[in-house]
Amino acid sequence: MQVNTIMVVGAGQMGSGIAQVAAQAGLKVFLHDLDQQYLERALQTIERQLQRNIERGRLTAADKEQILGNINTTTDLGHAAAADLVIEAATEKLDVKRGILVELDQIAPPHVIFASNTSSLSITKLGSFTKRPQAVIGMHFFNPVPVMQLVEVVKGLATSEEVVKHVKQVAIQLGKTPVEIADTPGFAVNRMLIPMINEAIFCVMEGVGSAEAIDTTMKLGANHPMGPLALADLIGLDVCLSIMDVLHRDLGDDKYRPCPLLRQMVAAGYLGRKTGRGFYNYDR
Ligand code: CAA
Repeated sequence: MQVNTIMVVGAGQMGSGIAQVAAQAGLKVFLHDLDQQYLERALQTIERQLQRNIERGRLTAADKEQILGNINTTTDLGHAAAADLVIEAATEKLDVKRGILVELDQIAPPHVIFASNTSSLSITKLGSFTKRPQAVIGMHFFNPVPVMQLVEVVKGLATSEEVVKHVKQVAIQLGKTPVEIADTPGFAVNRMLIPMINEAIFCVMEGVGSAEAIDTTMKLGANHPMGPLALADLIGLDVCLSIMDVLHRDLGDDKYRPCPLLRQMVAAGYLGRKTGRGFYNYDR
């Protein structure tokens, strides 16, 4: 079954990336956020990415117009009534996601699948907020979405096999590679990746080396495309902390304790690229 129209709820860095890949795959996209200014910022980001692709000779100006023409921005969740699939990519807060899912459940016809891009919340729990838990699933994309190949397809306890199969097909339609993962804390990638980042922060805190030194060791010694601290700045230190908190709480093992320096930096508002300062400084 092909999907023609999707709604992406949340126009932050993940939501705008998902909207871009869907529009590039020829889907009609409703990109939703609470405020028009977030939507305009998302469109500017997408436009910049497409322009870069034109400069690299991968797209024509006509392709760009067509892709942008596939994206309709909206502050009205009501458009979910016309979507085949809704991908929720809102703030990583359970209450926010619950509010959105409850509202969507009233708007969208019963066959519409709700996929969440949550990086750590339980899909089973998100499904329980709706009257269609069998149609609630995780579709976890990676940052930067247009570049990263993987989508973790996360099956909640109540998610039906048919929905899993369908969503894997959608991921392929978007040019991604789906991998099915059980609904466990941090799923697969974040369970491995974020503790590595946390350990890198311990290394800085304990004076093992400077941020630059630690990043260089992993780039040159383990062939990572970017160091763990630069990656933390890309992901957002607040997101890294909230994932560590979930791993620590839900797996109940102190090996997942968040590094105190990570907590301190989040408290100071040094969240990485999005605030202009994290382990590195960024020109805004
Ligand atoms: N959006 C779209 N495209 C982007 C981009 C962005 N934000 N950033 C970089 N790119 C593209 C560039 O256009 C470039 O493409 P071409 O060369 O084909 O034109 C390509 O990526 C490489 O970019 P650069 O040359 O500027 O830089 P780079 O070679 O250092 O690559 C990177 C940048 C792709 C980010 C690379 O460093 C990388 O893969 N880093 C690791 C990213 C990663 O691990 N992401 C997962 C984070 S975890 C997560 O997202 C899940 C979660 O829940 C927290």
